[in-house]
Amino acid sequence: MSTPSLDHLDQLDKKSQAWSALFSEPMSELVKRYTSSVTFDKRLWRADIAGSLAHADMLAAQGIIGPQDLADIQRGMAQIHSEIQGGTFEWKLDLEDVHLNIEARLTTLVGDAGKRLHTGRSRNDQVATDVRLWLRDEIDATAALLDDMQRALVFVAAQHVEVILPGFTHLQVAQPVSFAHHLLAYVEMFSRDAERLTDLRKRVNRLPLGAAALAGTSYPLDRERVARTLGFEGICQNSLDAVSDRDFAIEFTSFATLVMVHVSRLAEEIVVWMSQNFGFINLSDRYCTGSSIMPQKRNPDVAELARGKSGRVVGHLMGLITLMKGQPLAYNKDNQEDKEPLFDTVDTVKDTLRIMAEMIGGEIAADGSRTGGLTVKKEAMERAALRGYATATDLADYLVKKGLPFRDAHEVVAHAVKTAIALGQDLSELPLATLQGFDARIGADVFEVLSLTGSLNARNVLGGTAPVQVRAQIERHRARLG
Ligand code: ARG
Repeated sequence: MSTPSLDHLDQLDKKSQAWSALFSEPMSELVKRYTSSVTFDKRLWRADIAGSLAHADMLAAQGIIGPQDLADIQRGMAQIHSEIQGGTFEWKLDLEDVHLNIEARLTTLVGDAGKRLHTGRSRNDQVATDVRLWLRDEIDATAALLDDMQRALVFVAAQHVEVILPGFTHLQVAQPVSFAHHLLAYVEMFSRDAERLTDLRKRVNRLPLGAAALAGTSYPLDRERVARTLGFEGICQNSLDAVSDRDFAIEFTSFATLVMVHVSRLAEEIVVWMSQNFGFINLSDRYCTGSSIMPQKRNPDVAELARGKSGRVVGHLMGLITLMKGQPLAYNKDNQEDKEPLFDTVDTVKDTLRIMAEMIGGEIAADGSRTGGLTVKKEAMERAALRGYATATDLADYLVKKGLPFRDAHEVVAHAVKTAIALGQDLSELPLATLQGFDARIGADVFEVLSLTGSLNARNVLGGTAPVQVRAQIERHRARLG
């Protein structure tokens, strides 16, 4: 190992030194704090080391650095890896970002080989590579959580195929649906989110390294080799684009925004369902909080926070889009601002999916059993479905089947509902003679039609709420999710 010698990084390492020989005065403390990113981008350290090792391996294979340099770099990086993991690595604000911190430490540890690592590379292609590598892993973790969320919903749905609640439009009672059917609507939403994630992963998983600062490099780099080593599916084909665009981060955040919007809708329903005025469900105590003043309170804070946290992800999407807009080619320091919103988006969407899946489907024990999921108050749901004339459409459909044009049937039923409201009764509670007063075609078989189960069973169309359809959907999802 050669003796480490002073270079600009060592210089920077000593507070109040200028960047390089070009500079005649050091950066002010305020500027240092304002421009540095190490406090947050140190999170990229694993990706930064992996990217550097792949670059060094390629430089050696191409004869740009020697085998001893490569061995020194590998040895130094192994030590840095364990220092960071063990919490003994000293992150220095003076070294601005994760890249310079790691490179300076490498040079301290292994000398000249450390100073050769940056050959044919710039922090511009380095940071774009790091963020993509980091995000790729987070995408895979997020995909697994999206699957868990869907499994939790399918699990609860499977137990409530015959449990009926009012389906709403305009939040007014519309038609009876099963609780399973209602939950499976969210499974559809999350499965589309998962499709979006799979699709965007391909575009994240492309290699910027080799673009160098912006124009490519004069060294005979083998970009394919680096891409293979790092598991990239493709290579960014234009160096200016490679270092400058952050559309992949925007795409992920856009995906995350839709996930959070879907979560937020579900969270809102949970809050409403748990309210005493609905009383459709209960949540386990472990997901509720009390009030410091009102002893009777049990609040669905987790659901409320999930709903609220959608706001910050929407905000991050706006932030990232605005950050990109109007940037001239190629790299601009503006792009350093991509990290905090992206990191927070990943953290928020992962935590939210995890906690919501658990609150709904329960915590999964080692043997696969679930405990602590939401409980359903079947009677309250059915009572609510009976209260709002949810089967009025069924009566109209019944009359259509007896030969009445639909518009006329609609009118007949409106009269029947008006009468039932005046009597304070459900349609199914009106005597047959009263019903026949609205249309002589009505027979005793109408009562099956007016029942909640009759209504549910009647909607036996692909995608409908009939139990036979819902069971088929549950099987489809189970086969898909494993
Ligand atoms: N910390 C910088 C970022 O996150 C790394 C790239 C800096 N490049 C530069 N030319 N200053 O974007």
